[in-house]
Amino acid sequence: MGLQEPDPKAGGGWLAKLSSITDMFAYPLRTSHYVELVNPLWTTHRMQARVMDVWDETKDARTITLKPGANWRLHRPGQHIRVGIPVEGRHYTRTYTISSPPERDDGCFTITVKAIAGGRLSHHIVRKLKVGDYIPVGLPQGDFYLPDASPIQPLFITAGSGITPAMSMLRSLILQERLPETVHIHYAPHEFDTIFGRELRQMDAEQPLYKLHEIHTHRNETGGAERFTREGLERLCPDWRERDCYACGPPALLAAIEEIWEEAGLSHRLHIERFRAELAPIPKDAVGGTVRFANADLAVDADGETNLLRVAEDAGLNPPHGCRMGICHTCNTTLKSGCVRDLRSGDFINEPGATVQTCVCAAAGDCELAL
Ligand code: FES
Repeated sequence: MGLQEPDPKAGGGWLAKLSSITDMFAYPLRTSHYVELVNPLWTTHRMQARVMDVWDETKDARTITLKPGANWRLHRPGQHIRVGIPVEGRHYTRTYTISSPPERDDGCFTITVKAIAGGRLSHHIVRKLKVGDYIPVGLPQGDFYLPDASPIQPLFITAGSGITPAMSMLRSLILQERLPETVHIHYAPHEFDTIFGRELRQMDAEQPLYKLHEIHTHRNETGGAERFTREGLERLCPDWRERDCYACGPPALLAAIEEIWEEAGLSHRLHIERFRAELAPIPKDAVGGTVRFANADLAVDADGETNLLRVAEDAGLNPPHGCRMGICHTCNTTLKSGCVRDLRSGDFINEPGATVQTCVCAAAGDCELAL
């Protein structure tokens, strides 16, 4: 009998025990570094996943099936992972929601990625990633998931690729045969570019407790574009006040939803997952400046709205980063001099020694960073 790949559900326990002994002989590296040469999925010093399948959902969205290596832990439907990919010699990290249910019995999971305009990594994943590639992944994270115990009547409001966490939840509930009475309002530009469109319509036809309202924002019966409005919500889901709402989509949609739930005093029943930081409007008189990266001994010009992480990457640097939306603080650095603007609040940061989250701050005049 040959060596089996570590079972993600078992956490690769036998490998960890063996490694603790062989590490003594592998110093200064670890056994895991040598094991990686045989099979990257057996490593324990970093988590990797193998691309098992790629599937085009629409012309610019692709589902990637990944087989994770040792020490993986199952996700809760709605959670996300960090994915790292080297592109043109530089290492990028992004966060993607898992779109598959944890009930899969092949040990794999899927992410569904839409190529966004100017998105280096999303374009690479959608266009270039191929079966057999290995990519670094993080463990599932996030608190956007349905409660285990208390029965709820969910209302999902999703748009575009914001469908992914809801899809993981719906697939899981259906597989477990415990789908509650559910209303789902989903926005996509057209029928043909609705991610998971066919599966959603099939669920609507086959699941008596699932009601889908699929709204195409670039075409409707009257020829006009239909957007999320309070009136539309009342019409499509008159009992929305009695439901727990799970929403994921672009910032404008989430802001409109937040306003309605806040006015109704129901914010505690609203659960939101964001893909991007909520940014304040850029003031008309915002100015950029020369950004000096002290450790790299490099200076570049930047405008007043491009985040400093992107400025550094465009200048050829590879600064640490994670979520790119102001949550994980992996991109923190120190302001040595000058002034930057926090793009979320519009506040200036100009105290030397202050912490700067490069993914959500832009130059506000000349500045120097400890990067
Ligand atoms: S990359 Fe996560 S906070 Fe900046």
